[in-house]
Amino acid sequence: MAFTNGDNFIDEIKSRCNIVDVIGRVVPLKRAGSNYKGVCPFHNEKTPSFIVSETKQRFTCFGCGATGDVISFTERYYNLDFMEAVQKLADEYGIEIKRNRHGSGEKKEKFYEINREAAKFFYTAFRRLPNPGFDYMKKRGIDDDTLKKFGIGYAPDSWDSLYRYMKGKGYDEKTLFDLGLLSKSESGGKYYDKFRNRVMFPIINTNGKVIGFGGRIIGAGDPKYLNSPETPVFMKKYNLYALNLTRQDISKEDCAILVEGYMDVISLYQSGVRNVTASLGTALTENQARLLKRYSENIVLSYDADGAGKKATHRGLDILYREGCRAKALHVTDGKDPDEFVKAKGKEAYLKLVREAKPYADYKLWAAMEGRNLENDEEKMDFLREGEEILKSLKPVEADIYVKKLSKYTGVSESAIRRELNMQAESGGPLSNTGYKSAGKGNYPKESLHEKRITDAYEALPLLPTEKIFLSLVFYKSQYYEKLKDEELKAVSDSEEFKSEEFKSKSLSLFETETAKSIFRALSEIYRPGEDIDLKKLADLLGEDFTKQLEEIEENTRVVSDDEIIFKETLYTVQIRGLKRKNKELQEIFEMEVGEDEEQKKDIFMKEYIENENKIQELKKKLQDLRK
Ligand code: UTP
Ligand code: MN
Repeated sequence: MAFTNGDNFIDEIKSRCNIVDVIGRVVPLKRAGSNYKGVCPFHNEKTPSFIVSETKQRFTCFGCGATGDVISFTERYYNLDFMEAVQKLADEYGIEIKRNRHGSGEKKEKFYEINREAAKFFYTAFRRLPNPGFDYMKKRGIDDDTLKKFGIGYAPDSWDSLYRYMKGKGYDEKTLFDLGLLSKSESGGKYYDKFRNRVMFPIINTNGKVIGFGGRIIGAGDPKYLNSPETPVFMKKYNLYALNLTRQDISKEDCAILVEGYMDVISLYQSGVRNVTASLGTALTENQARLLKRYSENIVLSYDADGAGKKATHRGLDILYREGCRAKALHVTDGKDPDEFVKAKGKEAYLKLVREAKPYADYKLWAAMEGRNLENDEEKMDFLREGEEILKSLKPVEADIYVKKLSKYTGVSESAIRRELNMQAESGGPLSNTGYKSAGKGNYPKESLHEKRITDAYEALPLLPTEKIFLSLVFYKSQYYEKLKDEELKAVSDSEEFKSEEFKSKSLSLFETETAKSIFRALSEIYRPGEDIDLKKLADLLGEDFTKQLEEIEENTRVVSDDEIIFKETLYTVQIRGLKRKNKELQEIFEMEVGEDEEQKKDIFMKEYIENENKIQELKKKLQDLRK
């Protein structure tokens, strides 16, 4: 089929790029009936639940729910936007894309090509022994596999070796100059090699294109690292070093370790810590944070232990926090950077530091405390002031936790700190000591509370009606907490059982929304058998974000009658809903996944499906009986 016009270009891509080939190149697939099956690249799993359907040209993971077509797979796997994914597929399958008028796409392609050629040149020079670059990297303890993996090269000690090589390939000096591979003498405009006698680190984007280079001087000297300039293909603030190699590990570990230098990345990688990347000789940017967040929200900054590294850590934490990442930080305790640490102490010692990395606010408080003598009143005041500034940047629930810490560190009462922060209404409000009584009406003084929020409003999402009923019952009679817990345990163990089958199912939990789950968890902390729920304590624990939800739940308790019937009715309703959902899932698996030759599995699924149907009928009958 030939490519005709732009309108059905996307269809052209989809029909020419067989999803089984495209995915099969990066995920080992096995035939399973009419479909293919493999280990999901988008979440961590041991038994394969990632299904590729050739007939439907779609993939679906029954473990994590990822699903889509050949283009969305390419987007997600290679971290591309839609157009980039289309471009990549078109390139690979030789499908012609209509260039835009300026031909900038072609120019970019030329740049990539030249960079790749240069990387090849440096790599070859590095492999031609002996040479000072190779000796230097060996001396730094990098093994051959790792050197190859990162494509490490050597720029010979010459003024024109790359220049001559590239000219021989027919590339013009102007383009080489634009890419920062050649320099130009000030006087005569004579070109010469920019990188000379340096170890070369190619920088490769997640699309596998060489976008630039870092070149380290051999031994001491200035500048230590020489980097490619910004070019149309090398925009430092949008890229991270080695992400092409490490993003899968970052996804799988659900954690990214962000370091300062090329050598930190390489050393950690060699030691077996592979979920690592570095910003490119610049301070971390928002774009880089966003890029990284696509692979994991958990980001650990591991910058150098010196003053500059500490400063960069504060900045980096702020950026990550603002972008909604769960940011932590650590500093190595031996050597000046992760490279030195891991060489001296090994992988396990480094991973221990990672596990013990301080969350955003802890790091900030810890840094504020450092070097201050809290026995001294004046220094303590300074610390408090700085601590309060830190707290102000936190979301309300977090701020509440850190008020307690700040109080502990300084011996100043929590209420005094809260007053300083204006965290609490002067009178009333769930955070005050006087206002809220569990026996009273839902008297959360909205106005005063919301005016005094220390950060922007951030409200818990609404509850499902069934969740609201369950929670109202607990407020009404605390024994319902026990009943719910029992049911919840049963539900979870039911779905665990199901998980031991090949495919995981969504849990049959009574609570679906994060809001309800949070409230239920908080209840588990304050529930005391035989006592009413202390609503003030609950509100305190959950913070202001839950004010509205708690108020609604409490409102509900006043219309409770026939609580036992309501409880059962709600329970059966939720159970029916869960079972129906499960069966829908089973049906999907059934349709899409089970091949003709998998009769046995079909039987298991069928049995499960029928059992669920029976349970649903039973529950429906019970419901009817209740309502009689
Ligand atoms: P460092 O000076 O901490 O380098 O700079 P390093 O990684 O420890 O290097 P080694 O171990 O001495 O080889 C951290 C990063 O800052 C950028 C580089 O990206 C470097 O990896 N940098 C540093 C430059 O771009 N230019 C420089 O002159 C120095
Ligand atoms: Mn170093």
